[in-house]
Amino acid sequence: MDARPKSGPVLGIETSCDETAAAVVAPDRRILSNVVLSQLDEHRIYGGVVPEIAARAHLDHLDAVIAQAMSDANLGFPDLAGVAATGGPGLIGGVLVGATTAKAIAMVHDLAFMGINHLEGHALTARLTDGIDYPYLLLLVSGGHCQLLAVEGVGRYRRLGTTIDDAAGEAFDKTAKLMGLGYPGGPALERAAERGDATRFDLPRPMVGRPGCDFSFSGLKTAVRRRVEELGNGLDDRAKSDLAASFQVAVAASLVDRSGRAIALFEAEHGTGRGFVVAGGVAANKTLRAALAGLAERRGMAFVAPPLALCTDNAAMIAWAGQERLALGMVDGLDFRPRPRWPLDPDAARSIGAGAVKA
Ligand code: KG4
Ligand code: ZN
Repeated sequence: MDARPKSGPVLGIETSCDETAAAVVAPDRRILSNVVLSQLDEHRIYGGVVPEIAARAHLDHLDAVIAQAMSDANLGFPDLAGVAATGGPGLIGGVLVGATTAKAIAMVHDLAFMGINHLEGHALTARLTDGIDYPYLLLLVSGGHCQLLAVEGVGRYRRLGTTIDDAAGEAFDKTAKLMGLGYPGGPALERAAERGDATRFDLPRPMVGRPGCDFSFSGLKTAVRRRVEELGNGLDDRAKSDLAASFQVAVAASLVDRSGRAIALFEAEHGTGRGFVVAGGVAANKTLRAALAGLAERRGMAFVAPPLALCTDNAAMIAWAGQERLALGMVDGLDFRPRPRWPLDPDAARSIGAGAVKA
């Protein structure tokens, strides 16, 4: 007979990129602990995440991060019902460190193990924070992904649109880099834009008015590059701020246009009055949030944007996805194999640019 508890706290582990994170979440949505150790300093001098350095740093820090999460939650491993770890997509070295550690804990303490798709973690965060019902429309904007998805249930996602080149966060990061704004680019660009005049540079609004719900950001990035070259020595702090602000409103216009089209597709299938959720690290951006909240209001949808700490990578979202899967008996064996590429909607056509490494 299986003596495992069917319900109880779940430990989540996230190691797919440059955050080493562990969290404990209860079945009733209470976050009992949430520890995130950022490796920003390790990668800063390279201007981006170096996979080998990331994997080694996860190995060095994960045990202490998990111990901290368990102690913050005031629990021991035998008190848990399960352990959930990101199983992909992401940098495979880091994913292996997290998944192997989770399996070891599950094996020693006879706990359920769940290998979680990192994107599912982002996708279900709104259920953790706001208890929103299925189905809902999700705009997932992160460093490796830019997708519009109908979230119909656990493991049931239909992709309505994706990027054909860069992800939104990637566009922020690359644009910030070529403007000399530092790393990580998203927050640096947003800070610069706060003081900027968004009307000074007339940048293209990518894909606006085009059929479908796909995204493209490489043309916008090239337009910024051209302005930077034209400005030459004139690229002072004022110009940087104005360019950053102009870039941000161009991205906002694109996200609003694409999401507006996705709302129409989503409502044709699921009816009106549903939720519109934005998730992923780029959802931390206040200008974008405000633009998307405005769209939801105009279209009569409830807008849900998780708190900033749960938008960027964290383990509470992994623990919560584990809770949802555990409740449905969707548990994995210890032979679960991590997957560097792992689309949420396997029926969607394989996209060309949607980041293989970051999620
Ligand atoms: O979801 P996330 O933490 O990691 C994954 O990609 O999975 O997202 C990170 C991305 C980075 O590209 C970062 O520059 C972007 O989110 N980001 C932002 C902001 N904060 C983080 N982009 C724009 N504005 C921000 N405030
Ligand atoms: Zn992420």
